[in-house]
Amino acid sequence: MEAKYAIVFSALIFSLFIIGETATTGSWKLLKKSIGISAMHTQLLPNDRVIMFDRTDFGQSKILLPEESCTDISPDDKIDCSAHSVELNLLDRKVRPLTVFTDTWCSSGSLAPDGMLLQSGGSGTGQRAVRTFRPCANCDWTEDQKGLVVPRWYASNQILPNGKVIVVGGRGQFNYEFIPKSSLPSDFKVFALPFLRETRDAVENNLYPFTHLSTDGNLFIFANTKSILFDYINNRVVRNDYPVMPGGVSRNYPSTGSSVLLPLKLGSINSTIGAVPDAEVFICGGATPNSYISAIKGTFLPAAKSCGRLMITAKEPKWVMEEMPIERVMGDMLLLPTGDVLLINGAKKGAAGWYLGREPVLNPVLYKPESSNFELMQPSKTPRMYHSTAILIADGRVLVGGSNPNSNYNFTEMFPTELSVEVFSPPYLSSGPRPKINLAKLKTEISYKEPISIGFVSKKKEGIENVSVTMVAPSFNTHSFSMNQRMMVLKINQVRQVTRNYHVIDCFAPETPNIAPPGHYLLFVVQNGIPSRGSWMHIS
Ligand SMILES: *[C@@H]1O[C@H](CO)[C@@H](O)[C@H](O)[C@H]1NC(C)=O
Ligand SMILES: *[C@@H]1O[C@H](CO)[C@@H](O)[C@H](O)[C@H]1NC(C)=O
Repeated sequence: MEAKYAIVFSALIFSLFIIGETATTGSWKLLKKSIGISAMHTQLLPNDRVIMFDRTDFGQSKILLPEESCTDISPDDKIDCSAHSVELNLLDRKVRPLTVFTDTWCSSGSLAPDGMLLQSGGSGTGQRAVRTFRPCANCDWTEDQKGLVVPRWYASNQILPNGKVIVVGGRGQFNYEFIPKSSLPSDFKVFALPFLRETRDAVENNLYPFTHLSTDGNLFIFANTKSILFDYINNRVVRNDYPVMPGGVSRNYPSTGSSVLLPLKLGSINSTIGAVPDAEVFICGGATPNSYISAIKGTFLPAAKSCGRLMITAKEPKWVMEEMPIERVMGDMLLLPTGDVLLINGAKKGAAGWYLGREPVLNPVLYKPESSNFELMQPSKTPRMYHSTAILIADGRVLVGGSNPNSNYNFTEMFPTELSVEVFSPPYLSSGPRPKINLAKLKTEISYKEPISIGFVSKKKEGIENVSVTMVAPSFNTHSFSMNQRMMVLKINQVRQVTRNYHVIDCFAPETPNIAPPGHYLLFVVQNGIPSRGSWMHIS
């Protein structure tokens, strides 16, 4: 009897230990075994639906289009009545097939200020397409097959302070243009960007350049190892004094690393150039410049372990190098509501491209910018190699999908085409009760500089002073880069205690569209490192 109790008891202790351990290093859950396609491109919409798509030229997916949509497929493509885009509703996990008419392969996108997904380029029939998707219950894609002036494949997009989107580069395109097209003559022009020619090497290790809107309104562009600050209005390089990123590593496709603009702290205006908040870029991983060629020949070189931080607003910018606990190529970097950065997906060896990655990195790594600390998280069971994606969703979890390093849908390859979608819960979701925003009193439409008050309920008594409010832009993720990813830590005026558990934070909306381009953001209250659920709000 006693022995039996002892076993039960130690099993209990053991499982508590296991739970305790996963609580501090996150946890994984399968959300959908199959969404029917492979999530190669992913965007969260302000109605908590996620738009995903792969490509139209690599065979039948596992989800059919409604019959009437099938007949609309453009005649120059083979008749394929399977869908290559879906909408995943996070509220009920339902998947709805959507119709893309032209090839979306290796394209780019942005959420427009009105919440419409504006997506551009691709391959073949889709190389000049601009597609739009309006969030509504039964909406579908619309396409303008001549929406871009030139073909763009592997380009990067950035939403601008004026609400338009700049589309930068693409294979063989050393230039940029703006979408959506209006009647402005400048919309129908292509502007030269020689930097993209200068940073190209033998294998074009500068595709999907990293683009980040700096706090002064100029565009920071990083490609391969080099960066510039660029005035896209006057077609002028503003700064070219950024040092080459050390490490002997190429950081862009196909030596794919990743990049984020670290949280912009709006309460501390201490920039050395003008009264704008400092902006710091953080780039991790990638591979040696010859990794792609070497992988094609069958030798899979170790990916980079190095990361670098560059204060792009500094008078004398210098890379501060750091080292991840694991090598990573084709990893994604995501800003979490707390301001920490999650490194997720990818491989330890090889490069981006079909069949060229080896040794999947199953463990995400949590990076704390304040302490430069890297923490290893619980591993996933699913390799997420080339053509995988990850995005932050409103509840604070990370949605992970895709992976298809194959030239078609293949479910028996070494790294099969993945149709599943998982969620990773960062440690903050098991660290205690979450603050709860009072939605009834939350203003969801705000203007620049406006004072805003956010009420929240907290079960914790202590640490009321340790509160922040963050705004996160929903990004377009593909090929390890989250376009338009951005976080602001709002300037707080005061935190008022109203009742024992109810507090109101008086803070200020971002000052200008240079700091936060107009559009939808997720707003979080973070208390002692634990975020609330995100609430959608719109700034204009
Ligand atoms: C999938 O990959 C395996 C292994 O390379 C190959 O034998 C098989 O023919 C492929 N199937 C398809 C449908 O391409
Ligand atoms: C504030 O929260 C952070 C987590 O973000 C924690 O590390 C720190 O100890 C907290 N400070 C206080 C004074 O509670």
